[in-house]
Amino acid sequence: MANDRDPFTSPFGTIFSDKITTAVGADGTYTYSGSAEPLADLSLHPGTHALHYGSTCFEGLKAHRQPDGSVAIFRLDDHVARFQQSIGLLYLDVPEADLIRQMIIDAVVANADDTPVNPGALYIRPTMIGTEQNIGAAATPSKSTLMYMLNSPVGDYFAGGIRPLTLAVEQSIPRTTPQFGMIKSGANYVMALGVTLDAKRDHVADQVLFATAGDITETGASNFFLVRDGEIVTRNLDTSFLHGVTRASILTMAGDLGYEVSERSLTVDELLAWGDGGEVFLSGTAAVVAPVGTVIVDGQKTTIGDGQPGPNTLKLREALTSVQDGTADDPHGWRTVV
Ligand code: COI
Repeated sequence: MANDRDPFTSPFGTIFSDKITTAVGADGTYTYSGSAEPLADLSLHPGTHALHYGSTCFEGLKAHRQPDGSVAIFRLDDHVARFQQSIGLLYLDVPEADLIRQMIIDAVVANADDTPVNPGALYIRPTMIGTEQNIGAAATPSKSTLMYMLNSPVGDYFAGGIRPLTLAVEQSIPRTTPQFGMIKSGANYVMALGVTLDAKRDHVADQVLFATAGDITETGASNFFLVRDGEIVTRNLDTSFLHGVTRASILTMAGDLGYEVSERSLTVDELLAWGDGGEVFLSGTAAVVAPVGTVIVDGQKTTIGDGQPGPNTLKLREALTSVQDGTADDPHGWRTVV
């Protein structure tokens, strides 16, 4: 059981469950103890590859409390596949999907009592670290690794629940490099930090929307959508930004609900002209579906609609969360009950 702090009043990601699963990799072979163990500090050599050359990545997925009291992991296999993709792009040895899957399930089973009721969840943070002790290995991958599944009971990522967010649009500085965006790597987040801190200070912005030369991709922590009655648009995938599992879920559900779905390039001009009934929202495992009320471009504020969460945004959020929390059917087989 995690300590008795309340996930709904504590900042996202600051409470940790007290069981973890861990596997050690050496020359392509992973060794897992086979069960969850007590959470403990890591002991790392100061010359650990990940600490010097950034050979580390992670995943973010959630387990949700179901009406019958059980717990279901949302889109487990898709997150396993994306974790494998990130690991491979860092040239670390990619574990078998079955091992990653089992370690996630074992951790969630061990920490299941920590799962808050909706809209809370048990956040799952699979993590991979290159552990080779070699500060000369700047141009060679780490041959040894550590993989673990950390759990954290969470409430809302954006403090204040469902409220209209303010986005500052950044058109000069990219979030990351064009080839690294699809890796879920801490490097991408720290690269966005300076711009994000400036936007918080100057505009009280919640997130920065990266749109280099007007080409919208994503915000620091979520994917980006335009929606209005009958139509939803998001940026087509490429290697420059994260391939959100929540993003994919929304596109599928929007199609099910009869929306015309487009994945294509999106410009800042189009965002500003999105028009009558136009709504903007962000999506992510942590962000869920988060409405946007204001965008700031070159210091100029534009209110989206009446500045409040719109009906299409709220409908899609409800469609997503009701599959996650088991109050709706699961036609696409996205829940894994543990
Ligand atoms: C997630 O949505 O899972 C993320 O990793 C975003 C992070 C900033 C909490």
